[in-house]
Order: sequence, then structure tokens, then C-alpha cells
Amino acid sequence: MVSFPLPRLDKDKELYEMFLPYCRLKYGDVWNDPLKKHSVGCIDCIDKSLIKEFVGNKKYSLAVHDPPYNMVAFRKTDSKKFVDWCKQWVGLSYKLLKKDSAFYVWLGADHKNHLEPFAEFIMMMKDTGFESKSFITMRNQRGYGTQKNWMSVRQELLYYSKGEPVFNTKNVYTDIPKVLKGYYKKVNGVNTENLERSKSDKIRAGNVWVDIQQVFYLMEENINGCFAQKPLSAIERIINVSSNPRDRVIDFFAHSGTTLIACERNKRKCHTVDIDPIYCEISIRRLEAFREKGIIGWQNSNPFEKEIRAGKKIKAYLKEKYNIEYKN
Ligand SMILES: C[S@@+](CC[C@H](N)C(=O)[O-])C[C@H]1O[C@@H](n2cnc3c(N)ncnc32)[C@H](O)[C@@H]1O
Repeated sequence: MVSFPLPRLDKDKELYEMFLPYCRLKYGDVWNDPLKKHSVGCIDCIDKSLIKEFVGNKKYSLAVHDPPYNMVAFRKTDSKKFVDWCKQWVGLSYKLLKKDSAFYVWLGADHKNHLEPFAEFIMMMKDTGFESKSFITMRNQRGYGTQKNWMSVRQELLYYSKGEPVFNTKNVYTDIPKVLKGYYKKVNGVNTENLERSKSDKIRAGNVWVDIQQVFYLMEENINGCFAQKPLSAIERIINVSSNPRDRVIDFFAHSGTTLIACERNKRKCHTVDIDPIYCEISIRRLEAFREKGIIGWQNSNPFEKEIRAGKKIKAYLKEKYNIEYKN
């Protein structure tokens, strides 16, 4: 049971404003992790001078970006405008990445608002210096949609390289055991099954991921208040396959801080920005909560529980508008 829920903050400006005073970053500020591993900046990813200041002379082994594609809020609904905008932060990423590095980008579509930028995005990438390596489809177990259309159960993840990045094959396996008998092949005159010859008794992740659960409110990693978080296991797979411990990872769209947590748990250093102080604060709090309590999200609570408990005004607002009653 969700005992301390929080509605989506992007959909309720009044509620959003109530939490702003509790955010430690305002636009242009940077939070440097006191343990000196990570940083979070409240920065627009195409603000070249602030990004330059944020990264200094650091170079990254891996970029994992998850841009907003529901651009209605940003008034950039057409694909061309969206991709022109993408081109700017893709170019910046290229400069920040090491000679041999990996670049991943999640790319969605918003059919309702006719934003389907795949084709334009893929064409744009051809002139960036990155080499296309794979287009991954993550198949969600839960979907959304209407009765009049195919249910949306898919998320696209594009994988590009600069030079020759690491690809740690030993980390590429899912947790799914190989149960089906494979083809027989004669080795030294004896028939052997695939399983006998393979490197793992688990199935290797290909470019269709079917083993990752989309985040929903019953999961521990769920961050109430957010609306677009990626599954931690997906980001951890990317990080573990495409970087090494102690490497630096950059993410231009922090939101709920999934890349930050994934880096912390897998001994990478994460530098991440978000244009919105609220999501910077949520990301930092998620990291702090992980360090203090070992939790990866707030399934039964939310990042601003302390402020809600203390503040009559917020509590009254949530009760009146959403009929949410918090019990102390
Ligand atoms: C799809 S979410 C990222 C989700 C993230 N991967 C996670 O798992 O939580 C996109 C985020 O990008 C942020 N954003 C939008 N425009 C931005 C910009 N120009 N620069 C930096 N961040 C931006 C939004 O505030 C939002 O939090």
C-alpha cells in the first residue's frame, strides 16, 4: 500500500512551487558530492558555457541520455525542432567523451502530439562523428494506450560509439536461465548441446530486452512525484557493459537520478544535470537516501516526506485537491 504518495510534480504547478524553496540548487548551481564522486548541476544541457564550467577538463567514458520527448511543455512539438535541439547536446556530448567511449540515448515517440522523431534523429546522428552500433528495444511488461491502437510496450535505446569503447561481455547476461535445449553440434565426435559449450547458463541480452520491468508504483525503486524514470536495471546493464569501475559517466537529463544511483552502486562517477531544480533535488536526495538507508526509491513514501509532514499548507493542499491524507 502506498502510504505517502505524491502526485506528478510536472502536472501541478502550484504543488511544484511549494517544493521549490526546499531545493538546494537554483539555475546555474552545482552540487558536488562530499564524498567527491559525483556532481549534479542545475543546468540546461545546451548551455555550453555552464556545461563547460560544470565538467572542467574531465572526459567521460560513457554518456547515457534520456531526453524528454513529450515536448509539449517545451513548445517544440515538431520533429525537426526537436532534432535540431538534440543536435546541440549530442555535439556537446561528443566533445566531452573520451577517444574510446560509448553513447546511449533513449528515444521515444509521442504519437498523440505527432512527435515521431526517430528518422530525423538517426539521420542527424550520421554527421556527428558517432558510429551507430545497435538499436535496442526494451519491451515493457506493462503498457499504455487506448482500445483503438496497439498498446505501447516499447522503448527504444540507441547505442553509438566513439572510437573503440569497452564492451564487457561478461556483464551482458540476463538473470534468465537457459532452459531450452539448444542445437546439437559434434565436438570431438560427440554431440554437445549449446548449453554445454556456452559461457554462461543465463541468456545473453540481445538487442531486445524483455527481462526488465518498467517502473510502477509498487516497486521499491519508484520515485513518487516523478513521471519518466527509467528502470535501474536497464541503466545498470548499460553501465556495466559499456564502462569500467571508476570511469566517469555523463547524463544530461537526471530527473529521478537513476544514472546517479546506478553509478554509485557500480562504482562509477556520475556527472549529471537537469534544467529543473526540483529534479536536481530529487536526484541528490535519492543518492543520500541510498547511502543512509540502502533504499533505491520511495515506494511507500516520496522525496519530500519530511517537508510534507512539517508543513500544514502542503498537507492541506494535498488533502483538498487529491484527497491524500498523510498519517503520522
Ligand atoms: C525523461 S526525463 C529523464 C529520466 C531519467 N533517465 C530517469 O531515469 O529518471 C527528462 C528530464 O530532462 C529534464 N530536461 C528537460 N529539458 C532539459 C534541458 N534542456 N537540459 C537539461 N535537462 C532537461 C527534465 O526536467 C526531466 O527531468
